[in-house]
Amino acid sequence: MQFTGQDFSLKHPSKQLSGDTEIKASAPSNIALVKYWGKHGEQLPINPSISFTLNKSRTQTTALLTPLERPGGEVSFKFYFEGTHRPDFEPKIAAFFKKIKNYAPFVTDYQWKIYSNNSFPHSSGIASSASGFAALAKIIIKLEKQLYPQQTEKYYDKKVSFLARLGSGSAARSTAHPVMIWGHHPQIKNSSDLYAVVPDFELHPVFQNFRDSIVLVEKGQKKVSSTAGHKLMENHPFKDIRKRQAFDRILQMTEYLKTGDLKNFIKLTEAEALSLHALMMTSEPNYILMQPDTLKIIHLIREIRNNKKLPVCFTLDAGANVHVLYPGNIAKELKQTFFSKIPHDVIYDFV
Ligand code: DP6
Repeated sequence: MQFTGQDFSLKHPSKQLSGDTEIKASAPSNIALVKYWGKHGEQLPINPSISFTLNKSRTQTTALLTPLERPGGEVSFKFYFEGTHRPDFEPKIAAFFKKIKNYAPFVTDYQWKIYSNNSFPHSSGIASSASGFAALAKIIIKLEKQLYPQQTEKYYDKKVSFLARLGSGSAARSTAHPVMIWGHHPQIKNSSDLYAVVPDFELHPVFQNFRDSIVLVEKGQKKVSSTAGHKLMENHPFKDIRKRQAFDRILQMTEYLKTGDLKNFIKLTEAEALSLHALMMTSEPNYILMQPDTLKIIHLIREIRNNKKLPVCFTLDAGANVHVLYPGNIAKELKQTFFSKIPHDVIYDFV
């Protein structure tokens, strides 16, 4: 069943929670295999994307809600990250609250204090906006359930992803596991630009204990914000080709995940990471986000794969860090022969 934006719109509730209320939620991070790069309209992707959910790398969020006697037009909130007030994160959250007003009008009825913690080191510069907005969307849906309890679980599930998307596109894919697809594809049942779905096939056992370890080539702030990055696709000379490529790749990737075709999975995952960077290198302005050590690590991974016949591959996000993907049964061997030998910190538990 498909939902529309209209289905998720709500009238302001007549009810308000009485007294202070605490709502907690946690959400995982995710790593895209076929990437979302480029958007239009209200946070709609130009192509579908597919990701592994990283269940062990999570954002835990607690919201303290105090009912307001005279609610204003904007949401009044403060955001704390790992115990510290972080006004620098607040504009993106304020923009999120603004975008969801039509779908969650009750958010303006409270004064919010939002406390977030990550299970992975923030100093690593690993983006946490996907897990962060997914956790916040879950909190909003928990509140909605108290105020409008008549909906189905399917509705609430889809709406969590719908709301998370309005915070950050990739957050739409951080609301369920083990794999999520976001973006409409004519050959994928129930797929939607408005929210992500768990595809209706069983993930092949080869991929069920897959790991993602991140080699931190570069720590700290991103060089290009994702919003600015997506904008580069608007007039990109390869936009149409890229769209076609991503639509084809989604079908190929789902096939490999279903059948356990590790060899082609590796080939496609790496090709997709390089396509993302190629798009950035050929946009106006252009960006080279890989560092010399990114390339060194990529070559090392390929060497290990060829010489030791280990099924390991890489993917990249819009940055220099390398996500190393491999089945759990080779984790020990990789640690001994690869991770322990490179001069970079590694986040291992990004599973
Ligand atoms: C390269 O979800 O961070 O990681 O919607 O502007 O918040 P916004 O962008 P964001 O973009 C993620 C881009 C990517 C690929 C992906 O995760 O699919």
